[in-house]
Amino acid sequence: MLRNRERCFRLVLKATWFGALPMSIEEKQMEQAATQPKATDIAPAKGKLGVMMPGMGAVATTMIAGVEAVRRGMAKPVGSMAEMGTIRLGKRTEDHSPLIKDFVPLAKLDDLVFTGWDIFGGNLFDAAKTASVLDRDQLEEMRPFLEGIEPMPAAFDQRYVKRLDPKKIKTGKNKCDLANQIRNDIAEFKSKTDRQVMIWTGSTEIFLKEKAVHQTLAAFEKGLVEDDEDIAPSMLYAWACLKEGVPFINGAPNLTCDIPALRELSKQAGAPIAGKDFKTGQTFMKTVLAPALKVRYLGLNGWYSTNILGNRDGEVLDDPDNFKTKEESKLGVLEYILQPDKHPDLYGDIFHKVRINYYPPRGDNKEGWDNIDIFGWMGYPMQLKVDFLCRDSILAAPLALDLCLFMDLAARTPSLKHLGIQEWLSFYFKAPDAAPGIHPEHDLFIQSMKLKNTLRHVMGEDLITHLGLEYYSE
Ligand SMILES: NC(=O)c1ccc[n+]([C@@H]2O[C@H](COP(=O)([O-])OP(=O)(O)OC[C@H]3O[C@@H](n4cnc5c(N)ncnc54)[C@H](O)[C@@H]3O)[C@@H](O)[C@H]2O)c1
Repeated sequence: MLRNRERCFRLVLKATWFGALPMSIEEKQMEQAATQPKATDIAPAKGKLGVMMPGMGAVATTMIAGVEAVRRGMAKPVGSMAEMGTIRLGKRTEDHSPLIKDFVPLAKLDDLVFTGWDIFGGNLFDAAKTASVLDRDQLEEMRPFLEGIEPMPAAFDQRYVKRLDPKKIKTGKNKCDLANQIRNDIAEFKSKTDRQVMIWTGSTEIFLKEKAVHQTLAAFEKGLVEDDEDIAPSMLYAWACLKEGVPFINGAPNLTCDIPALRELSKQAGAPIAGKDFKTGQTFMKTVLAPALKVRYLGLNGWYSTNILGNRDGEVLDDPDNFKTKEESKLGVLEYILQPDKHPDLYGDIFHKVRINYYPPRGDNKEGWDNIDIFGWMGYPMQLKVDFLCRDSILAAPLALDLCLFMDLAARTPSLKHLGIQEWLSFYFKAPDAAPGIHPEHDLFIQSMKLKNTLRHVMGEDLITHLGLEYYSE
């Protein structure tokens, strides 16, 4: 409270300095109090949070099984900022860094309930076995729980995911009919839960560009009735979800809700959106290393990234049209971080290549290699090599969990709910959605600062600027 009053006083001084109409301190305090979010504005996380997942493959089953393992005390939520992270409040001298989950009102893991859709029959125990991410013994312990979740038939069209043969899908007279069937599924789930979020953990679809049908909600809804081929299945889920006033997260690189029509719907419905493409392995490392080179003004000639991956995602991405969607998502990162237009001598002529090779023997255990050709003082060349032997879904699961928890928070927070894109969650994405005309932030550490400052902001706490001069004045 004292900190807020100090800040208020500083604002008044600033307004006067720049020649704004002088206001009394009381008036300014009243204005400030009216606009500064307060912790009490946020609706409490009461009751069950329903998590809906279109696409119940490796990421979805690993996340759900992991949440259940944590609930049973069999595992810790490693990799989850929402569950394990801390946040500093106030000055460093105050030594006050509570757990994030104790600072902001997040849903409890015990209150999560799961459902979803997929094109394959069977239950989540079968799906988790197929995904082969988790140990059989561990899965056996959770067998009854996982067998109790059975994906609903999907809205699917093989033209958008060519390598998969569907077994259990919805049929309807057009895309509008299919989307309305999804709305019915959501309405049914709403009757069993108190709040809901949807997270697309389905396959990567073929590359789509923004077209006329995506420009307005009216054009999009007309396109649904007319079966417009630029409306992909993931867009049907997103539209249905937002129409139901439920937040939507896009874990794949698909265009999905990154179009004006669905941004409009998101704001209108007060249902936040965030995407796209979980930032897990190679891009996670890239957004750590590239900012490091940039802050030291070391030059870059080339960055060659290649992966081997043997899971179903790898199989889907083996098709060139589907890979193109992933490639676009992975390629943007360096351009945004290094800003070649501002630093032509250092980054004006970079060769950047990204490959993903489907290699079944490795399953979900991806190996990503990076060869980075850099140069330093007087142009002398150097090299960096990264060999990341990671587990794709083990890295993705905590990100998916955090996104569900934070998007549910956004939907309960008046100052975030109607913003549409939740750019503060760009930390979790390879190709973060951002407002038109604003380039997304890719640097992992700026993204993490942005996320934590947003939490401080919505809770009415002072932001941390890392200035720190006050420690050195008397
Ligand atoms: N695993 C990672 O580290 C990671 C990282 C970044 C992004 N992703 C993305 O997350 C998504 C999921 O990855 P995964 O490894 O779980 O893949 P997966 O192939 O194991 O699971 C995806 C599931 O989606 C289903 N599906 C496809 N189209 C559907 C539709 N229209 N409706 C309902 N279900 C549908 C498939 O049948 C499949 O079971 C992919 O798009 C992937 O590119 C994954």
